[in-house]
Amino acid sequence: MTKKVTTATLVTLKAAGEKAVFLTAYDYPTATFADRAGADMLLVGDSAAMTMLGLPSTLGIGMTEMLVFARAVVRGGGRALVIGDMPFLSYQPSDETAVRNAGAFVGDAGCDAVKCEGGRRVARRVRAMVDAGIAVMGHLGLTPQNAAQLGGYRVQGKSLAAAERLIDDARALEDAGAFAILLEALPAETARFVRDAVHVPVYGIGAGPHVDGQLVISHDLLGTFVGDIRPRFVRRYAELGDAIEAAFRRYAEDVRAGRFPAPEHCYPIAPEEEALIRERRAAGAVAS
Ligand code: KIV
Repeated sequence: MTKKVTTATLVTLKAAGEKAVFLTAYDYPTATFADRAGADMLLVGDSAAMTMLGLPSTLGIGMTEMLVFARAVVRGGGRALVIGDMPFLSYQPSDETAVRNAGAFVGDAGCDAVKCEGGRRVARRVRAMVDAGIAVMGHLGLTPQNAAQLGGYRVQGKSLAAAERLIDDARALEDAGAFAILLEALPAETARFVRDAVHVPVYGIGAGPHVDGQLVISHDLLGTFVGDIRPRFVRRYAELGDAIEAAFRRYAEDVRAGRFPAPEHCYPIAPEEEALIRERRAAGAVAS
């Protein structure tokens, strides 16, 4: 394993103008493969609600499920910075709730940091978590936990006024001690405007190229998301969903046709013992 990525590494990457590679992961194998492939950060996103549990939105997942996913990702990661995504109502109610749940991601699951959605209105919670010694990433733009307030899953920051509100939010997060900010679903020029207004690293998912690194939901990139959502900003690097389904179909055909298991899939036995068993079976004598 090359050197573990820390929040300091991310500052160094930004200063050097090098893009950080950021992927979601929810399980041990995906985290292992992503880490081996050189991902700098792994987000245990609350998108697990949709990608892993088949729920219609991220609102239905809680800390119990998120900690299971987070522990698995921590076991699979090694070099990458692992970030636990705080689910709906795990930080909004009070500073105490936020610190307790962020503490579970870090202290129990072994994550390196947490992420929460919102700007100025959650800045107090971010400050409380940071004061407790926890590294916090902010998340602005399309924030799925309050999609109903945003009028649905819509691109944000499409006017100067909206872009300026995002800058105000980004500065509130930076002042509260966030180590980085993630921008979701913004026009590229808006994202650049926000990125240039703060000092901390700014990453994007569907926010164009002028940010310090890119996040993609691994299921979107791999073609394993079950459903009709196909975001415009995703480039498909594989069609693993189709490959998995095709493999299961071939298996089903082989089982039904008696082609599986073949002799090479069967455990051997000494020929003399096999002969004795055959004889006994043929005689119809089965020990009771
Ligand atoms: O849960 C998640 O994967 C996220 C990204 C969509 C930003 O929060």
